[in-house]
Amino acid sequence: MGLKRYSAAIIGATGYAGAEAIRLLQGHPQIEVTVATSERAAGEALRAHCPWLDADLILRAPDLATIQADVFFLCQEAGYALTHAPALAKRAKVVDLSADFRLKDPAEYTHTYGREHPGFEHPWTYGMPEVTGREAIRAAQLVANPGCFPTATLIALMPLVRAGIVQGVPIVDAKTGVSGAGRAKRETDHLLAELLDATKAYGLPRHRHEPEMEQLCGPVRFVPHLLPMSRGILATIHLDVAGPVRPVWEEAYAAEPFVRIVDAPPSTKQVRGTNRCDLFVSQTDSHATVIAVIDNLVKGAAGQAIQNANLMLGLPEAMGLPTHGVWP
Ligand SMILES: NC(=O)c1ccc[n+]([C@@H]2O[C@H](COP(=O)([O-])OP(=O)(O)OC[C@H]3O[C@@H](n4cnc5c(N)ncnc54)[C@H](OP(=O)(O)O)[C@@H]3O)[C@@H](O)[C@H]2O)c1
Repeated sequence: MGLKRYSAAIIGATGYAGAEAIRLLQGHPQIEVTVATSERAAGEALRAHCPWLDADLILRAPDLATIQADVFFLCQEAGYALTHAPALAKRAKVVDLSADFRLKDPAEYTHTYGREHPGFEHPWTYGMPEVTGREAIRAAQLVANPGCFPTATLIALMPLVRAGIVQGVPIVDAKTGVSGAGRAKRETDHLLAELLDATKAYGLPRHRHEPEMEQLCGPVRFVPHLLPMSRGILATIHLDVAGPVRPVWEEAYAAEPFVRIVDAPPSTKQVRGTNRCDLFVSQTDSHATVIAVIDNLVKGAAGQAIQNANLMLGLPEAMGLPTHGVWP
């Protein structure tokens, strides 16, 4: 007897996160993309908008009430899932890649994203398996997929916070590739001429990912920087600790398929295309410099979304998710 197959609908298929979900699911043994939507390109071939994908899908309008699938990946800007996810989650599994259901405090959501949140009467779960555990994700209808910076930061920090060895407020100095801003962005900052040979901080004084981090790990000081690379996040975290970091990670992550503790400062490139988070620490007495790298579009978005969907559908958590990087 063949393996049971599950159908997936990618809502917002021509964006970076949606297209990456399709790329990864093309190699998934049990989840098949049967619907890919686009508001602006309905009726056109996916290939016309994402020529790197080898998939014969015709883009449909995102008329969600008429779309059937076992699992929906909502790959749209914040605001979209607020309207659509609660009804959808009554009849299918839903993974929302936006920030709409990440923050537990509606007032914090409004303050951060500039719109009212209708409330939290619909149950949802924040899904970062290595940090939140699996039980609630397996039982969930609606999973909020974490942000890319919080993924790198929380995987590095949470075992240390739980072990009680963090002292003071960690400083998270992070770098990102420009795909983190999405494909639809038309800001001057993202023009090649402005980006090339340059780097700068943004999001000050309080980037919108800071409250997402803080609701799990407590206070942090977070400053992201934009680098002239297409993908990747590197978070360098400076913190004072009351004991050695590495053994705490080794214990927390011994059985994790996607977290690797490495012996040299990692490059974003070694995790490119993978669902891995590589961790490194340099420690002298009570000061630790911790470095975490992920691919923002895989572990930071579509890969982690598929990891969550695997759990929600009762499949092996790591199914279909790459761990070998693309190099050089
Ligand atoms: N990028 C990341 O690294 C990352 C990481 C974690 C979470 N996320 C979250 O995932 C969600 C989607 O992010 P994204 O990076 O995929 O955004 P995106 O590339 O900007 O795509 C979002 C939507 O914008 C439309 N779009 C795509 N290309 C366009 C273009 N050239 N001109 C006009 N519209 C275009 C598409 O919708 P229609 O075709 O339907 O109009 C697409 O689905 C967001 O909530 C984001 O915060 C992203």
